[in-house]
Amino acid sequence: MSGTPVQHVAVCPGSFDPITEGHLDVIRRAAKLFGWVIVAVGADGGKQPLFSLEERVEMARVACAQLRNVEVDSFRGLVVEYARRRGAVALIKGLRAISDFEREVQMALVNRKLADDVHTVFLVTHSDYAFLSSSLVKEIFNLGGDISDLVPGVVLEGLKSKGGSRKS
Ligand code: PNS
Repeated sequence: MSGTPVQHVAVCPGSFDPITEGHLDVIRRAAKLFGWVIVAVGADGGKQPLFSLEERVEMARVACAQLRNVEVDSFRGLVVEYARRRGAVALIKGLRAISDFEREVQMALVNRKLADDVHTVFLVTHSDYAFLSSSLVKEIFNLGGDISDLVPGVVLEGLKSKGGSRKS
């Protein structure tokens, strides 16, 4: 077979409130599999975020700055519509544990119903980060725990600027 290899685009959607080393592990894997990866920060998540949309995008941009085929953007509305607009063939979702599976499969089936041409690809998070979530990071930080191995430096600074930790 001959010809030019196709460079597929993938979208990594999420709330990223804030981005963690677990997210970055999945993004780095996706960047090895796809030609172009768009980290898409959702404006319409269910929960009230700690960080504004602009803050979440900026932290993700700094955290992904070294990844040459990764872009950070935000989106409103349906993720599959955003993916179609951006010419993406896949939505990348990280799976940490069995507990993620039910919600993620539900979302994947809804998204397939809405757009059969956008495929959900699950990547299993490294075991080092299998316990990690943005909510837990915020909780540990607020209780004065050390999260320096769990988030990029820009997020640590962002959390400090929110003044949440009891430790200085
Ligand atoms: O990090 P999260 O909170 O798991 O991310 C959830 C997100 C943003 C990926 C999800 O809420 C989403 O896709 N929202 C956009 C609205 C949408 O398309 N809903 C239908 C499919 S679930």
